[in-house]
Amino acid sequence: MVFLHKIFQMKVTKIACIGAGYVGGPTMAVIAQKNPGIQVTVVDLNEQRIANWNHEDLSKLPIYEPGLAEVVAEARGRNLFFSTDINKAIVEAELIFISVNTPTKTYGKGKGMAADLKYIELCARQIAETATTNKIVVEKSTLPVRTAEAIKNILENNSNNLQFQILSNPEFLAEGTAVADLQNPDRVLIGGETTPEGQEAIEALVQIYNSWIPRERILTTNLWSSELSKLTANAFLAQRVSSINAMSELCEVTGANVQEVASAIGMDSRIGNKFLKASVGFGGSCFQKDILNLVYIAKSYGLNEVADYWEQVIILNDHQKKRFAENIIKTLYNTVSGKKITVLGWAFKKDTNDTRESAAIYVTSALMEENASIHVFDPKVEKHQIIGDLEYLNVHTSEEINQFLSIENDPYTACKNAHAIAILTEWDEFKTYDWQKIYDNMMKPAFIFDGRDILDVNKMREIGFVVYSIGKSV
Ligand code: UDX
Ligand code: ADP
Repeated sequence: MVFLHKIFQMKVTKIACIGAGYVGGPTMAVIAQKNPGIQVTVVDLNEQRIANWNHEDLSKLPIYEPGLAEVVAEARGRNLFFSTDINKAIVEAELIFISVNTPTKTYGKGKGMAADLKYIELCARQIAETATTNKIVVEKSTLPVRTAEAIKNILENNSNNLQFQILSNPEFLAEGTAVADLQNPDRVLIGGETTPEGQEAIEALVQIYNSWIPRERILTTNLWSSELSKLTANAFLAQRVSSINAMSELCEVTGANVQEVASAIGMDSRIGNKFLKASVGFGGSCFQKDILNLVYIAKSYGLNEVADYWEQVIILNDHQKKRFAENIIKTLYNTVSGKKITVLGWAFKKDTNDTRESAAIYVTSALMEENASIHVFDPKVEKHQIIGDLEYLNVHTSEEINQFLSIENDPYTACKNAHAIAILTEWDEFKTYDWQKIYDNMMKPAFIFDGRDILDVNKMREIGFVVYSIGKSV
């Protein structure tokens, strides 16, 4: 109980969050909005990112999320601060969230599978070296199960007799609906040690969330259950998408309609109707990374059947992206060389400017390999991001990217004289375009490949398009 008396007799008054990304930024903005009495400081190494979070013009925030600018406008300067002074924030805070990136390893043991924990470790070392008082350290980033143990070791072996309580508080927000998810979450999960000190630390974090979330929706567990629950939730969600995508291929060859199948099974309350939209494949920073991580963990315990089971979710997702691109090539008389193909949508889903692991990157790359001339339009993703994504893929030279890729600012120009259009993100505005006008200005036959099932196929066929829509027969 010594620990308890040292720091937990007071309420948390100052929070630091290391990492001002897609998770840290919106999460801290909402925590600050709902706790005006707590000072929340979000820090990052990336100066440009912090400058954008502090930008007077709210349209320049580094992340696009519906409703986020309003939350930032309310709290910023009052009790929400963005800074590059990481040490100052660490010293001041009683509670520190770690919200840095944990990408898949690109080198060494576990390459291509395991999560790269180097950024987490750097944070832990910096906290240990800088802190002058005991701290509660909260894992916000998604981590392999038992990482809390490693963090605690690093902290306690590198600091001057300080004590740390590690909590796991995984974030379940989905991009595009981050603010709504944070303001009204299904549940908040907090894992901690089962010791009295651990329970005190849990309670301190519960208080922060409880200022707007009913206590019964705040679930507390042991550390390992919390860490593993996050990986499990993402694995189940991704599995649902791969399951319906597997059915989409079967629908296309049998004449069934995947939307009708999804509605029929979704009415079964045991299955539920959410997350059953067939698509060109899931993307985003979490699903693939977390499943690979899960597969790696299972393998490292010798659980090969478990590992193979989950790996199949990724294999099916890769297949879905590949077959979509191959279908375009096959349908365009087996050659797309020199043909203009318009890609509508680059983000991994609508209402976000995030493009990590977006299906658009892989479909475009496959078409570029066949020398197609790709013209991309996305309402929120900037040119440098699209080019950066293709460079990062490391498949095409800069010359090839220059030669085969054009980024457009206007959808009608993007589609003009195109041989085919591929819809790869489900942006709402795509449904309201003047499709007659687009058809009139395209090469004929005018092909459209709807990778998100958002267009009215009959209406498009009436206009004259040759339509391929995921999960529907031609
Ligand atoms: C996901 C989890 O939903 C969230 O709880 C976790 O915190 C982070 O990972 P996110 O990746 O932001 O969130 O978005 P999500 O809505 O889950 O979509 C992931 C991908 O699956 C997107 O590419 C989306 O288009 C695709 N998807 C989703 C489908 O193709 N069909 C669906 O029915 C649902
Ligand atoms: P996520 O989607 O998990 O939020 P992001 O990549 O959007 O991931 O954000 C993670 C942020 O963490 C980045 O802005 C990165 O600069 C920051 N970051 C990584 N390591 C550190 C560190 N040691 N100190 C401070 N910030 C860091």
